[in-house]
Amino acid sequence: MKYTKFGKTGIEVSKMCLGTWGIGGAGWDNYSDESRMDAIKAALDCGINFIDTAPAYNAGKAEQYVGETLHKLGARKEVVISTKCGNEFIDGKYVRCGSADKILRECDESLQNLKTDYIDVYLVHWPDPNVAMEETMDALNQLKKQGKILHAGVSNFTKEQMEEANKYCEIEAYQPQFSMVDRENEELIRWAHAQDMGVMTYGTLGGGILTGKYRKLKTYEANDNRNRFYPYFREPLFSKAMKLLSVMDKISKERNVPLAQIALNWTLKKEFISSCITGSQSRDKIEANCKVFDWELSAEEMQILDKAIEEYSRA
Ligand SMILES: NC(=O)c1ccc[n+]([C@@H]2O[C@H](COP(=O)([O-])OP(=O)(O)OC[C@H]3O[C@@H](n4cnc5c(N)ncnc54)[C@H](OP(=O)(O)O)[C@@H]3O)[C@@H](O)[C@H]2O)c1
Repeated sequence: MKYTKFGKTGIEVSKMCLGTWGIGGAGWDNYSDESRMDAIKAALDCGINFIDTAPAYNAGKAEQYVGETLHKLGARKEVVISTKCGNEFIDGKYVRCGSADKILRECDESLQNLKTDYIDVYLVHWPDPNVAMEETMDALNQLKKQGKILHAGVSNFTKEQMEEANKYCEIEAYQPQFSMVDRENEELIRWAHAQDMGVMTYGTLGGGILTGKYRKLKTYEANDNRNRFYPYFREPLFSKAMKLLSVMDKISKERNVPLAQIALNWTLKKEFISSCITGSQSRDKIEANCKVFDWELSAEEMQILDKAIEEYSRA
């Protein structure tokens, strides 16, 4: 594992962060409780000290798996927990909720779920257009003063929204989507990095498409996140992604490494990213993904991949 400073927070975090949306158990493949909790333990065994979660990941379930596992292992203090507010999961739907009273309540619930009395990194999950930014960010400031959260940040905000939010509460962390199949936020990420924010990017494996596990177009249930959240599981992006995968296949064969490690390696090479969030619900995948730290893509391989990504991104 490699470690780095998480922007101005000064916290030392692993370059890979465990994502727990899938572990929450809604909208992804189904695993047993044992597998989900063992996945969290596997991450720690591999040197990951950074876990990303949210109350929206199945209405607190993901946080509960994290809380229970860390409690059993007595490992709370060794782990940097990032969780979120302002986005609820109600009856299978995600609902923005940026009001102050809601956030103050949500934070107490997260602390309970996580079996802890502090949250290292607390992010506004999505901006709420119906609530003034000042109200949302003031709530985070209050939580900071109370010692319930140590650092504040945002996810899925535009630059303007971040600048506005920063007027009311210092933004120390930023969580956008970024991967070989989604570079839309790159400019904004570079800007956030230049502001010394800790940058943790999500969807590193493109929700799994960059692992090579999905080679045929498939119809998912309406509430499956491969259907509703990640657009490259549908046409016209699916076919383009398959072309990109054929380039990754060649490198995979030459280097004898799995596709997932190529996608992770490509992301880890970006100096403007502090930690790449990677989701999995099983030990074997987490252990395999962490082998990415044993090797590096060459400059020539990066060029080949970047060219293929350019082609993928062209309309
Ligand atoms: N802030 C936000 O709005 C936001 C949005 C999306 C995600 N996130 C965060 O980022 C995390 C990561 O994103 P994500 O989970 O959506 O996508 P991801 O990490 O790109 O991909 C996760 C998928 O890849 C599969 N996978 C992982 N390693 C694999 C391997 N070696 N071989 C084959 N398949 C593999 C997982 O399978 P299994 O689960 O079956 O093991 C899962 O289906 C989330 O868990 C969450 O913490 C945040």
